[in-house]
Amino acid sequence: MIIKKVVELIESDQVLQDYKVNGWVRAFRSNRFIALNDGSCLENLQCVVDFENTDDEVLKKITTGAAISVSGTLKESEGKGQSVELEVKSIDILGEAHPEDVKKTILQPKKHSFEKLREQAHLRVRTNTFGAVMRMRSKLSFAVHQYFNDNGFYYVNTPIVTGSDAEGAGEMFKVTNLDLKNPPKTEDGEIDFSQDFFGKETNLTVSGQLEAETYALGLGKVYTFGPTFRAENSNTTRHLAEFWMIEPEVAFCDLEGNIDLAEDFIQYVLKYITEHCKSDLEFLENRLLEEEKSKPEKDRSPMPLREKIDFVLKNNFKRVSYTEAIDILRNSKPNKKKKFNYIIEEWGADLQSEHERYLVEKHFGCPVVIYDYPADIKAFYMRLNDDGKTVRAMDVLFPGIGEIAGGSQREERYDVLLSKMREIGIDEKELWWYLDTRKFGTCVHSGFGLGFERLVLFATGMSNIRDVIPYPRSPQNAEF
Ligand code: 4AD
Ligand code: MG
Repeated sequence: MIIKKVVELIESDQVLQDYKVNGWVRAFRSNRFIALNDGSCLENLQCVVDFENTDDEVLKKITTGAAISVSGTLKESEGKGQSVELEVKSIDILGEAHPEDVKKTILQPKKHSFEKLREQAHLRVRTNTFGAVMRMRSKLSFAVHQYFNDNGFYYVNTPIVTGSDAEGAGEMFKVTNLDLKNPPKTEDGEIDFSQDFFGKETNLTVSGQLEAETYALGLGKVYTFGPTFRAENSNTTRHLAEFWMIEPEVAFCDLEGNIDLAEDFIQYVLKYITEHCKSDLEFLENRLLEEEKSKPEKDRSPMPLREKIDFVLKNNFKRVSYTEAIDILRNSKPNKKKKFNYIIEEWGADLQSEHERYLVEKHFGCPVVIYDYPADIKAFYMRLNDDGKTVRAMDVLFPGIGEIAGGSQREERYDVLLSKMREIGIDEKELWWYLDTRKFGTCVHSGFGLGFERLVLFATGMSNIRDVIPYPRSPQNAEF
């Protein structure tokens, strides 16, 4: 017997042939119709059981959540809602799911809140919404690799355990093997990390950028795509403590080329999912419309999901300098009426997400790239402009998301980089290898980091970043 996936049968026109399918029961109605899902697509396969000729013991075990294997003939469906169905000849119960237990879980077919689903994150992928989100997440990550591979980039795997703080923001998780109850001490009473596993203090990486730069300065065009970690105490719908970041880095490329790359890349991956995730997208769009019915008008998305994605595909990102952005914000209604939590008073202020969202959602109404930020509010590695006060930084801001990517042209001049590091107290002994690259054939180069979950958030129309990664890590939560 040919074993098939549900998606293959649903799209098949080979009716009147016999197939076998494995999956999980979503519902069993009238002792006759099994809705079978195997994760290969959103749709369930309708399996029609001849209950009069099926053992009662078997029928009893066809319950929501059970794993079964069914064999039968694929037929054009007489019922509404599906084009084909499987006329069942035999059923094997592979794994039972007792209704009494199922009732206590989110497998019980009724509406559950996302909070509840998060508590049972090991089961939530069996729901339509999470099946759709996770299939799209997978497709998006494939599209990421496809894009870079097609465009001459090499995939590099930068270390996850590192001694450096790439962002200089000190938001790192420590990695240690020392006995925390009784750590070895130096003569000054400090913890003696020379006795630790790596012989020094180490942490989980916050970004693969610095190592990626060294590889760009040899391979030309590279990208990373891996987990990154931030010990920031941000309990928001946009932050995770563990998230996946995509970081391209390109030699002989300036900030303008970097912005072009970000735009082209983002449009490519979004286009990819509009072509490869049609039914999941349609489902998620309807889910969102349904969810938003209960929201006040002003909090609803201005466009349905697919229209919003198409809009990003069809329109160039608006490019504005930080200085222009500050002028717009300073003269904006919410600023004058003191509606922002952080009122923009002078040049140099850091942009909060309320400001970013105002620019994107209210002022420009499209994705926005802000560039040339004040040096003081950006990381040490960004290239200083001739004005001596701004750096060649850029942030890509998206509707509903805020910052989706951030990057810069890198400071390639040894002296300028060194004095910047000294000025803000970055240990040059720790980053000797990074400085080294500026001594041996340094060149203009640029890159950016895009938070993969923020991309998935945008593409799926979900509203909480914890619902677009299988097992979210956030303050006070590392279950599973
Ligand atoms: O802006 P960030 O901190 O930039 C960097 O780490 C640079 N080293 C990137 C580079 O130039 N190669 O982070 C980059 C992106 C953000 O724009 C955001 O999308 C995402 O990573 N991000 C987070 N996503 C989820 N949870 C968090 N806590 C995030 N922090 C940053
Ligand atoms: Mg940033």
